Amino acid sequence: MTRIKNLYIETYGCQMNFSDSEIVSSIMLENNFRITDVITNADIIFINTCSIRDNAEQRVRKRLKEFNAQKRKNPNLKIGVLGCMAKRLKEKLLEEEITVDLIAGPDSYRDLPKLLNTVEAGQKAANVILSEEETYANINPVRIGSNGVSAFISIMRGCQNYCSYCVVPYTRGKERSRDPQSIVKEAQQLFNDGYREVTLLGQNVNSYNWKNDDTLNFAALLEKVALVNPLLRVRFATSHPKDISDELLKTIAKYDNICNSIHLPVQSGSTKILKLMNRKYSRDWYMNRIEAIKKIIPGCTISTDIISGFCTETEEDHQETLSIMKEVEYFYAFMFKYSERPGTIAAKKLKDDVPEETKSRRLKEIIDLQQKLSHQNNLNNVGKIFDVLVEGTSKKSDQQLFGRNSENKVCVFPKENFKPGDYVKVKITKCTTATLIGESVDG
Ligand code: SAH
Ligand code: SF4
Ligand code: F3S
Repeated sequence: MTRIKNLYIETYGCQMNFSDSEIVSSIMLENNFRITDVITNADIIFINTCSIRDNAEQRVRKRLKEFNAQKRKNPNLKIGVLGCMAKRLKEKLLEEEITVDLIAGPDSYRDLPKLLNTVEAGQKAANVILSEEETYANINPVRIGSNGVSAFISIMRGCQNYCSYCVVPYTRGKERSRDPQSIVKEAQQLFNDGYREVTLLGQNVNSYNWKNDDTLNFAALLEKVALVNPLLRVRFATSHPKDISDELLKTIAKYDNICNSIHLPVQSGSTKILKLMNRKYSRDWYMNRIEAIKKIIPGCTISTDIISGFCTETEEDHQETLSIMKEVEYFYAFMFKYSERPGTIAAKKLKDDVPEETKSRRLKEIIDLQQKLSHQNNLNNVGKIFDVLVEGTSKKSDQQLFGRNSENKVCVFPKENFKPGDYVKVKITKCTTATLIGESVDG
């Protein structure tokens, strides 16, 4: 009988990558592996990587050095690099990182058993071919590190928006939508297993478009998932501002279980910069969409991604970013310094000409402003009552639980007899920048 081997898997990057690691785990489980979270027990280590910014790649390189030390202690240990960095650097990685035995890009995970056979035979193995069809639709992801309450469902793969700064179209290939039936089935299964929240994932979920005998757009898919059960909350990420339609906003407003929170990355408040970024919308267009959200879904929170110091960004452009942040009143933001990525349109055509200190200073101004906006946004919620879906015990006290409201804000409140998966009406009594604090009230 073949011995069951131990896989240790570590994931970096976006939620899509975490979701992919669940697919990889599922494939490995069917091939005589079990998952371990003790690295010293591993027969094989997979590191699922991200290329989005240079520091994301540096972190992986550093981690590979640490795995190398592990390999010296256990010469039979094998190391595989998966994901976006595997695709971007391919064989170069096998040459530069002598510890690496296996390379698999985001679309080659079904090939892992074959690649592992090659590795077992003492050779190095690589497959980074991108596919135009692969969506892993029929693979049932293993929910790693799950709280048993919320789960992610990948609904599409790839991206072909070619924002000028971004590596994703090169690492993940063409956009393709997953069969809606398999998505609804997965949501139903999760609900039956006790899950109470699903997040539909894609680089640009608004352009979800299933074409078979008939077609289905994202608004229609969202509705199908919402109809699985009124107790199943539905979220989605990420939305591209260029195609967030009124139809979609109306669908969100129509169903109580579709959450009132939209992640709408703006990147910059300057139309000139947006054009150079190839984002395909202007500041005015973006603000028009924000107004539509506020009108159609009152109380909806909006979060965003911002890049500081993109090519040619002036002080004036930067001020426009600060002013759009205030206009929208984001409740949360992911904020980054521009990092030039080899092979992208910006790397080929534009000069990375904003000095590092300027990028850092602007980023700090953006972060400071967001802190104030988040705090103000939370203060406005004090005194209100929200339906909170409990996710677990608060990190700070085992007498407190935490969960989220529909607006995606973290709420902390006394445990009483509640447990993860319960919906609790919580009245907010105070807040910090990041958290609402309250107590349960009778429904
Ligand atoms: N598909 C999503 C985001 C994907 S990447 C979207 O289009 O909104 C997540 C975020 O990383 C981006 O929104 C952007 O803010 C940031 N990002 C991408 N490339 C970057 C780069 N080269 N330098 C700095 N930040 C970058
Ligand atoms: Fe990158 Fe733009 Fe695609 Fe988002 S939409 S993944 S930023 S190319
Ligand atoms: Fe990173 Fe790839 Fe996601 S580059 S952000 S892991 S799609």
